[in-house]
Amino acid sequence: MSAALVTGASRGIGRAIACALAARGDRVAVHYGADRSAAEETVRAMAGTGHVIVGGDLSDPEVAAEIVRTADEALGGVDILVNNAAVAPNDENRHGVDEVDYEAWQAAWRTIVDVDLLGAAHMTYLVARRLIDREAPGFVVNVGSRGAYRGEPDFPAYGAAKAGLHAFGQSMAVALAPHGIVVTSIAPGFISTDRQTENIEGTAGEHLRAQSPFGRVGTPDEVAEAVLFLSSPAAAWSSGGVLDFNGASYLRS
Ligand SMILES: NC(=O)c1ccc[n+]([C@@H]2O[C@H](COP(=O)([O-])OP(=O)(O)OC[C@H]3O[C@@H](n4cnc5c(N)ncnc54)[C@H](OP(=O)(O)O)[C@@H]3O)[C@@H](O)[C@H]2O)c1
Repeated sequence: MSAALVTGASRGIGRAIACALAARGDRVAVHYGADRSAAEETVRAMAGTGHVIVGGDLSDPEVAAEIVRTADEALGGVDILVNNAAVAPNDENRHGVDEVDYEAWQAAWRTIVDVDLLGAAHMTYLVARRLIDREAPGFVVNVGSRGAYRGEPDFPAYGAAKAGLHAFGQSMAVALAPHGIVVTSIAPGFISTDRQTENIEGTAGEHLRAQSPFGRVGTPDEVAEAVLFLSSPAAAWSSGGVLDFNGASYLRS
């Protein structure tokens, strides 16, 4: 039984990951950004006991430190960190270079990079240092994106932040291996979270399903299953890897 901290577990993929870890027997710190009641809903859906809720904006390094301190103390040491929280692409933060003014461009980059890349970097530092101090092995799993490779023309900051997250995970895999800490990333393609329902059921749905030769999109539970593996001892030799997770919708060389 391990203790895990899953960021952005108040909904979507993070919620599925928290539920899967709990079903495996792990105790989980369920992190939310702003929506505590959604995090409470996640905990209600989880098996087992001893789970805790931690909240706060990961763009603030001091808040990140407080989240890790609270989770670590409540769980008696965090062994698994899943960097899942992100400012994901939406209509409000679209910032195509030919669409937005310079001010909006800067704002989108700041918001997305602060959470999706710097937030994950700070969380990794904070959890890794505690693992190193108590000479405990552990796992860091970054939830990246296919967009890092395929490009995100309407959300370039998102694509760049996810590419940075994958690269950061590779650096950390090397730096933390001597401490017995395994670091991997997963790069999902389109996943059928609640926030994507409108896209999937709308006119774009057929096009989205056709991205994969399987003729469908991925599910949060499938991502969660992969994270179960990546946060298990069997994944030690995957350290430094970035797992493509897109139903063969995008093949990188
Ligand atoms: N869904 C997809 O198709 C897809 C594809 C590829 C990769 N991904 C990646 O998978 C991960 C989860 O995606 P999702 O679709 O499940 O996302 P989502 O439904 O938008 O959920 C995002 C989560 O991140 C939290 N969050 C957002 N901003 C935050 C901030 N400033 N500080 C702290 N927490 C914050 C949210 O918390 P609150 O709601 O409580 O504020 C929420 O729990 C992300 O890293 C995303 O980039 C998703």
